[in-house]
Amino acid sequence: LRKRQIGVWRYLEYLPVKDERKIVTLFEGGTPLYRCKNLEKELGVKELYVKNEGANPTGSFKDRGMTVGVTRANELGVEVVGCASTGNTSASLAAYSARSGKKCIVLLPEGKVALGKLAQAMFYGAKVIQINGNFDDALEMVKQLAREKLIYLLNSINPFRLEGQKTIGFEICDQLNWQVPDRVIVPVGNAGNISAIWKGFREFEATGIIDELPKMTGIQAEGAKPIVEAFKRKAKDITPYKNPETIATAIRIGNPVNAPKALEAIYSSGGYAEAVSDEEIVEAQKLLARKEGIFVEPASASSIAGLKKLLDEGIVDRDERIVCITTGHGLKDPDAAIRASEEPIKIECDIDVLKKILKED
Ligand code: F0G
Repeated sequence: LRKRQIGVWRYLEYLPVKDERKIVTLFEGGTPLYRCKNLEKELGVKELYVKNEGANPTGSFKDRGMTVGVTRANELGVEVVGCASTGNTSASLAAYSARSGKKCIVLLPEGKVALGKLAQAMFYGAKVIQINGNFDDALEMVKQLAREKLIYLLNSINPFRLEGQKTIGFEICDQLNWQVPDRVIVPVGNAGNISAIWKGFREFEATGIIDELPKMTGIQAEGAKPIVEAFKRKAKDITPYKNPETIATAIRIGNPVNAPKALEAIYSSGGYAEAVSDEEIVEAQKLLARKEGIFVEPASASSIAGLKKLLDEGIVDRDERIVCITTGHGLKDPDAAIRASEEPIKIECDIDVLKKILKED
C-alpha cells in the first residue's frame, strides 16, 4: 500500500523515523507539478513546470518538514515545541502540534506577518508572541529557549525538518517519470528549503534512482539578499543584513542559518543565485495567476521573477527543462493580492449598467 501512497510518507525508507506509530500527518506533500504552456510562450522557454507547494494542508511547503519534525518530537516524548517565523512555519507548527497534543509557542516579527498566516497560528491554538524585532531576532530568542531545553525547536536548523522537505526533490523526479530537470529554481529565505531539495536529489542519485542532478538556483528579494551577494563574491560566508526589507515578508530574513548548506548546493550543482525587486515579484505573481490560474504568495513568485531575470541575463538557457518551486498559497497574504489588483467595480442593482460593463474589455 505504501508504494502507492502519495506524499511525504511514500518515501518512508528515506526518512529518519524509528517508530511508524509515532507519525503525525495531515497528508502533506503530493503537490501538483503543473506544466505551464502559457508561461512557456510568455517567457520564451521550452519546458517549464511549477511545483505548487501552496497545495499542502496549511498552504506551504513547511508541512513536509513539520510532519517529520513533529514526528521526531513525538518519538522523543517532547511536550513543548516552538519556532520563530515569518508566518508559514508558525502556521504549520501550530497545526501539527495541535494534532499531536503538544503545547506550541511561536515568535513572530510584529506587523510583518501576512494576515492568513497570523490567523492560522492563532486559530490552531498556539501561544502567539509578537516581538518588536525581525525574524533573525526572534530566531535568536527561541534558540536560547532550546539551549535551556525549555522548548523543542522546529526551525530549519532542526535537521528533521530538512529531511521532510527533501521529498520535494523526490516528488519532482517521480512526477517527471524519473527524468531530472536541468534546473530547479527556489525562493530563498532562511535557506533550508533549497538545501533540503538538493539533499533529496543527491540521495536519489546515490541510490541509483536518477543519474543526473539539476542546477540549484536560489532567488532572494533585493532588500534581503545576503546569499546572492556571497554567491557573486564567490564566497562561502555571508554578510548578514541588519534590516532586511521586502514585500515578500516570508523571505524577509537577513541572517539565514542554512546559508553554508545553500551555497554548497548552488556551487556544487553549477547553479546560480539572483535577486529580484519587489516590483518584479508582484509582476510575476500576477503573471502566474493570470496566465496559469496559480495563485501564490509574493515570496513564492520570486522563483518565476528570478527565471524571467535569468533568461534576460542569458544565464538560463531557453532549452532547459525548468522547475520553479512556488512555496506558499496566495491566500496567505490577501492584503498583498488586493493591493496589486484593480478595485472591484461598484454599481446599483441595474441590469442595463451591468450589460454595458460586460461589453467593455
Ligand atoms: N517561501 C515561503 C512562502 C516561505 O514561507 C519561506 C520561509 C521561504 C520561501 C523560504 O524558505 O527559509 O527554507 O529558505 N519561511 C520561513 C517561515 C522563514 O518562518 O515561515 P527557506
